[in-house]
Amino acid sequence: MKHLNIVLAALLGFAALSAQADVTNAEKLAKKYTNIAKTVNPAFEGGSAEAGKEFYNREIKQFKGNASTEGKSIACASCHTANPADKGRHIITGKSIKPLSPVVNTKRFTNLDHVEEKFTKHCTEVLGSDCSAAEKANYITYLLTEKTPTPKK
Ligand code: HEC
Repeated sequence: MKHLNIVLAALLGFAALSAQADVTNAEKLAKKYTNIAKTVNPAFEGGSAEAGKEFYNREIKQFKGNASTEGKSIACASCHTANPADKGRHIITGKSIKPLSPVVNTKRFTNLDHVEEKFTKHCTEVLGSDCSAAEKANYITYLLTEKTPTPKK
């Protein structure tokens, strides 16, 4: 029955997701990306927090094209900070970014369209192409483990 629900939800493109104020939607999204990743690579075992953390912090040297980041090495952590439970700060505009961890900020990973749009935008900005479904599954799985904002000094 549980499996059937996942299949149904995938067919509906998660249109039926309700905006619950908890991490259920983030967990469902991680599962959805896992299912897609498995169709590409049957050996994929499901979201890995460890791989997600590595990916989140991996610095990639930026090449020509974006004047504001050219030559710099940036990671997801550059804007979202090393602790995704903390507020981020945009490296170009300096604007504050709400925490990415869905545990701290329950609005995160609730809207598939928004999530897909941001993944495509930021992955392309940082990596030069969209992230794979496996990377997205790992990423959300990792974010779900980051529950504690850095204590204020
Ligand atoms: C240059 C700054 C910057 C970098 C680098 C960056 N992001 Fe973001 N990201 C943002 C901002 C700003 C938002 C907030 C938009 C919002 O509030 O919805 C955001 C939001 C997101 C969201 C939306 C989640 C949700 O449900 O609201 C995802 C997914 C995301 N980022 C993924 C990534 C990934 C993956 C990387 C690394 C490959 C990355 N970001 C790197 C600035 C950045």
